[in-house]
Amino acid sequence: MPAIETLDGSLDRVRKGLERRVAALGGRVGDHLAAYVGQPGKMLRARYTLLLGLALDVRPEVSEAVARSVELTHNASLLHDDCIDEGLTRRGVPTPNALFGDRTGILLGDLAFTQGMAEAALVSGEAVRSLVEAVHEMTVGELQEEFLKGSLNVSVEGYYGVAARKTSALFEWAGRTLSDHSPLEHRRDDPPRLGVAAGILLQIVDDIHDFTLSEALAGKPPGQDLHNGRLTLPGILAMDDEASRERWIRLWGSREPEALTKAQALFSERGHLEAARGEARRIMDAVLPWVDALPAKEGAAELRAFVTAMFRREF
Ligand code: FPP
Ligand code: MG
Repeated sequence: MPAIETLDGSLDRVRKGLERRVAALGGRVGDHLAAYVGQPGKMLRARYTLLLGLALDVRPEVSEAVARSVELTHNASLLHDDCIDEGLTRRGVPTPNALFGDRTGILLGDLAFTQGMAEAALVSGEAVRSLVEAVHEMTVGELQEEFLKGSLNVSVEGYYGVAARKTSALFEWAGRTLSDHSPLEHRRDDPPRLGVAAGILLQIVDDIHDFTLSEALAGKPPGQDLHNGRLTLPGILAMDDEASRERWIRLWGSREPEALTKAQALFSERGHLEAARGEARRIMDAVLPWVDALPAKEGAAELRAFVTAMFRREF
């Protein structure tokens, strides 16, 4: 069967499996979590995982369990992240913390996390052990970001370090786990290091979108990083630019709606969004040869198209 048809079937099974898992929780808790996990998010992580599984010729039931685990753990982290960032809208609907308060948001996150662990347990003991490590990394990354909030003293390397932890750790886990279950010869380091790069790429694009995408397209309001005093790549590049620095410092951290419009104008005038996109492209170009080297060529070609689309996405 062509790789893309296999992907559609697998994604459908992953979606149904997620629905079954949260429905089994029953009662109000199941309903709240189902309303969240069941929102048709982009499922970028599940798609990435399934395509990587195809490129490594991993058995579909293993790839699908890894994809469900990734989605549930990712949802868990977003439920917590929205409490931390005061995120009130995601996927076009109010977040559980907006509707029911932070306590509910945190506990729903804990539940999603345990469900993600249960999916990993279907794969292997080693998958559970390494997922614990990945979530540890994610938490350290999120904490580092918390400590950096309000600081204008963030280097590009520091920014990548945080992204490699909070965003890449889950992609890296998927890569390592799928590599362990591949029957084909391949360079064992490629799937996890591809995951690190994919996570950073996704984070850069997400952070650019915080300045450029409307709520209708992103499902969450723009300007959250700016208002929360979270310095991301375009802002770091503005700090490095003599001609932008003073203007940027005056806007940064402001909760006024016009601060976002002014930041957009400054960034497009000085080319900081383009420069951030250039960084993302540089990372993507560096990793595409690793994708091409994956052993099952049809899956590898689909994964290449997906990684390229992840870079170009406007959603
Ligand atoms: C979104 O970032 C958040 C993450 C990528 C990771 C958050 C990680 C944790 C809360 C620790 C792990 C916790 C568990 C339970 C697994 P963002 O704020 O840049 O994205 P956003 O703009 O979509 O909110
Ligand atoms: Mg957030």
